[in-house]
Amino acid sequence: MSEDFSKKRVLITGCSSGFGMMTAIAAAGKGYDCIATMRNIDKAQTLKQALKRQGLTATIDLLDVTDQQAIIAIAEKYAPIDILINNAGILITGSFMDLTDAEARRVFETNYFGAVNLTKAVIPSMIERQQGRIINVASLAGLVGHMFNAAYSASKHALIGFSKSIQTELRPFNIKVVSVEPGYHRTEMIGANANVAENLYDPASPMYDYSRGFLYLMLKRIIPNAGDPQVVVDKIIDIMETPNPKLHYVLGKDARLITIAKRLGLLRLLEKEAYKKLLIATQREKKRAQSRRKKRRPD
Ligand SMILES: NC(=O)c1ccc[n+]([C@@H]2O[C@H](COP(=O)([O-])OP(=O)(O)OC[C@H]3O[C@@H](n4cnc5c(N)ncnc54)[C@H](OP(=O)(O)O)[C@@H]3O)[C@@H](O)[C@H]2O)c1
Repeated sequence: MSEDFSKKRVLITGCSSGFGMMTAIAAAGKGYDCIATMRNIDKAQTLKQALKRQGLTATIDLLDVTDQQAIIAIAEKYAPIDILINNAGILITGSFMDLTDAEARRVFETNYFGAVNLTKAVIPSMIERQQGRIINVASLAGLVGHMFNAAYSASKHALIGFSKSIQTELRPFNIKVVSVEPGYHRTEMIGANANVAENLYDPASPMYDYSRGFLYLMLKRIIPNAGDPQVVVDKIIDIMETPNPKLHYVLGKDARLITIAKRLGLLRLLEKEAYKKLLIATQREKKRAQSRRKKRRPD
């Protein structure tokens, strides 16, 4: 059975910036009844202005996906929801040794449990109507390991595992579940929302120098080469509308290259290359720190 999703109600999480905000604008532009949620309404201005500029409307509402009561309330308030986009996510960069338990749990509470709990909350009305679509924004980091982002990578592996499992469970109810797996793209996650572990700058950490090397790679190599987020947004809109979406979509040049290498059994080569780059960057940062120290204490 296929259904027409145009002009239906879509609820999106994490719409204060990035993919979420851009998808909300695109969905409103396509005529969807768009419920754009965010955890901090004070950040709604950019979305409001963009909608106004384009003569579009969307409902903006508060939702912190780590707040179970808020999840239940929003699912009730906007039922029935035709399309749910679990987009909200956080990244806290740092070696797993430097990440506190609270930080690692915050990543999981947002990226994994937030999506699971909201899905559970909206699903009853989808089952009742025997239709619905759930789009989970995972990551390339959910398909392969990601040094200095172990908690994030693990949470996205968990989210992909969740999507893969419920894809089959929800088939009897004609509910389609799609996992979106982008590589690096220019959003606030690698900009204003970039978080680092509170112990990242602890000189006692065995990872102290390597963390600096990794940050150098992020700033000089990864971020400048990150993809255009509009490509991901266009694909999400496409997934909302296509009668038979694929189960998952790998998006971005970096993500495609890595998944092809994985399929061909060449992932070890790319990992070796990445490790070599980390060692070079670490040496470079160590030397820079030494020369800075010398300049401060010339004798
Ligand atoms: N950009 C990339 O390279 C990339 C690659 C792969 C996957 N992704 C995934 O794409 C999704 C969107 O991220 P983005 O790249 O668009 O980054 P972004 O601009 O930082 O957007 C993340 C959004 O999630 C929200 N959020 C964080 N914690 C939340 C919570 N507890 N409840 C509700 N909302 C919360 C943020 O709100 P605040 O503004 O209040 O923090 C923000 O609106 C994430 O799941 C991310 O993991 C991004």
